[in-house]
Amino acid sequence: MFSRLNTVSFQGVDVITIDVQVQISSGMPGFMVVGLPDKAVGESRERVRSAFHAMGLSLPYRRITVNLAPADVQKEGSHYDLPIALGLLAVLGVIPSDVLSEYVALGELALDSRLAPISGVLPAALHAASLNKGLICPKACGSEAAWAGDINVLAAENLLSLINHFKGIQILSPPEARMEEETVQKIVDLRDVKGQETAKRALEITASGGHNLLMVGPPGAGKSMLAARLAGILPPLTPSEALEVTMIHSLAGQLNEGKLLRTRPFRDPHHSASMPALVGGGLRAKPGEISLAHNGVLFLDELPEFARPTLEALRQPLESGKAVVSRANAHFTYPARVQLIAAMNPCRCGYLSDPSRSCARAPKCALDYQSKISGPLFDRIDLHVELPEISAADLTTPATGEYSSLVADRVKRAREVQEQRYSALGVTIRLNAHADGEPLDGIAAPDEEGQALLKQATEKFKLSARGYRRVLRVARTTADMTGSESVLATHIAEALSYRRIYFG
Ligand SMILES: Nc1ncnc2c1ncn2[C@@H]1O[C@H](COP(=O)(O)OP(=O)(O)O)[C@@H](O)[C@H]1O
Ligand SMILES: [Mg+2]
Repeated sequence: MFSRLNTVSFQGVDVITIDVQVQISSGMPGFMVVGLPDKAVGESRERVRSAFHAMGLSLPYRRITVNLAPADVQKEGSHYDLPIALGLLAVLGVIPSDVLSEYVALGELALDSRLAPISGVLPAALHAASLNKGLICPKACGSEAAWAGDINVLAAENLLSLINHFKGIQILSPPEARMEEETVQKIVDLRDVKGQETAKRALEITASGGHNLLMVGPPGAGKSMLAARLAGILPPLTPSEALEVTMIHSLAGQLNEGKLLRTRPFRDPHHSASMPALVGGGLRAKPGEISLAHNGVLFLDELPEFARPTLEALRQPLESGKAVVSRANAHFTYPARVQLIAAMNPCRCGYLSDPSRSCARAPKCALDYQSKISGPLFDRIDLHVELPEISAADLTTPATGEYSSLVADRVKRAREVQEQRYSALGVTIRLNAHADGEPLDGIAAPDEEGQALLKQATEKFKLSARGYRRVLRVARTTADMTGSESVLATHIAEALSYRRIYFG
């Protein structure tokens, strides 16, 4: 007696088909799962046995073998319970085995035969759709699966309702695709930030061109405040971006009721975060903060407080837009195209610029503090801005700045200019921050005066090749913000003002 059906295994964001083969044969009675199962998969025997018992079914006193093929792929997670249980039900003749071949199944069983939610249902559903198959999953994940398009989804509360469905006793209704309500970003508004005009301008450039930004300033200058307001001036996710973001959150098991995400991600991990938490991986491979921030913002507050190896591990994903997680026998890739916003105090005490408050070690402490961050990481940040301390007089005057909605309109227009240019060029990038190499030289070539200024600055500040390109990229964005076709000397001059700051 034999039956087979499909489930999936997750390899980063890639999904591969796993064939679940169930056989009941004569021989020594027992229940075995083979095909590189990890502990959670191995334990599924006990959950399946109990779930059957809860439904009043008992497993035959014979030899039950479950093979998960291909045998050389490590099987991780608890979602193998459901396909194993369905395979067994088919072998026992409780449900017809031919209909099972039209589905991909995944879900975790509770001891009372209820189906518990699991991660990764959206990518699994998209995979099932590509195989022209339907999907069987827990009810709680149904709305997530419905986003895979034209696909037959069976989202069941428990094993019994699936049996009833296949027997035609009670047909399951298809789940509804649901969207997250648009969270109101207006709770925090740029208008609340008093003074700090340079930093606000840098924040707008950052948002317009998708650049990385570093803010340096004494405690209480408004760094965290400004970073929190970036999400409010960025355009909403496009439908394809929303699907990508939702897929990563689904794999991480962080999707709220399976709703499609609409708000641009803003992740602000604490500086005690470990390397796997930030870039992904760990015992059971999961996307890290940098992938959860894909298509959005990764905010690292108090940058030098992060562990040095953790920060160094961010360099590669920041450059390539992908986080690669190495396991014993495979490499997984998660998308990680983020905008990095970092904030730091100039030194440990934070009051370097104020001799009356700075510590006795100033300015040497500043050098020590800043040297915790490597040059190559600084090099990946296009804009560096210094925030002065905010005076009591500034704080007591009423807010007069621009509202976030106004800035958001300008950001949207600047992004449209870039979108048009890059699609006309036929390249895949959409934002100036991602332009590099020859295309950048072509689109950001300054006029004669700008060229002269850039040459002078390169010699005076000893700009590295990377630093030079950074200036060009930022200048291109400031030109786009004013709708200027060519990059002028004023744009170069402003871009030069955001180059790396050295203290001490
Ligand atoms: N520019 C500012 N305008 C208005 N309030 C400010 C400003 N800067 C700081 N504050 C006040 O000080 C608090 C701390 O600011 P925060 O952004 O956390 O400073 P930082 O991150 O630079 O240490 C804020 O919650 C806010 O109430
Ligand atoms: Mg802060």
